[in-house]
Amino acid sequence: MRLRLGVNIDHVATIRNARGGRHPDPVRAAKLAIAAGCDGITAHLREDRRHIRDDDITRLKAEIDKPLNLEMAATDEMLAIALRTRPHASCIVPEKREERTTEGGLDVAGQHNALAPLIAKLSDAGIRVSLFIAAEQRQIEAAAKVRAPVIEIHTGAWCDALADGSRTDAEVEWQRIRDGAKLAAKMGLEVHAGHGLDYVSAEMISSLPQIVELNIGHFLVGEAVFEGLDNTIRRMRAAMDRGRAAGAHT
Ligand code: PXP
Repeated sequence: MRLRLGVNIDHVATIRNARGGRHPDPVRAAKLAIAAGCDGITAHLREDRRHIRDDDITRLKAEIDKPLNLEMAATDEMLAIALRTRPHASCIVPEKREERTTEGGLDVAGQHNALAPLIAKLSDAGIRVSLFIAAEQRQIEAAAKVRAPVIEIHTGAWCDALADGSRTDAEVEWQRIRDGAKLAAKMGLEVHAGHGLDYVSAEMISSLPQIVELNIGHFLVGEAVFEGLDNTIRRMRAAMDRGRAAGAHT
């Protein structure tokens, strides 16, 4: 199966918000990303609206012709927005005001009672729910228990270890991701992955056959400054295709 690429356009909005105007427009970036061959658009409406704003979500839903994945915290406010907007998918993420980015995975095991009704309401509305978790057995089993159809494995710790050149840590994290993806698929969960991926890590992780979607943002937007968004997405697509083909041969 062809691995899907979801492009996260949050940081186009970060640059826009630095000056407070309308430029650069994340919806324009989303359309360009789709024209370059991505399979969906991801946007995180944070509680503090530091990048994506409510009207970006409304416009994305109205103007793009590929699936919209709304990343959101498990709050009543975000649930209401999701039910009103009806994105194709909602990825539930943990959120702390003071963090620079989504730093850890969701504690599904510890929040069963809060998450199960939220997931049920989103699912009843036809929204495909995914839970952003570390590749830990406890969290994967909890995700199945709360009836989430999809998990997204947090690849941040692995990508940090690769970037730091820490081979032992990278190997430990890689095993964790590989084993977690296998376990989740065995339990009938659809497996996505994301956070911190670049050309090299995306190519490596594409070799895991259980993973059907990668969500990538910061690297693509940063690299677009040098190479253009269109070219950057095409190169990412090619890296993923190479990784998938390599995985099929092992
Ligand atoms: N997936 C999820 C659930 C995320 O929260 C993020 C970051 O917003 C990403 C993927 C993309 O991470 P990055 O911007 O580091 O590529």
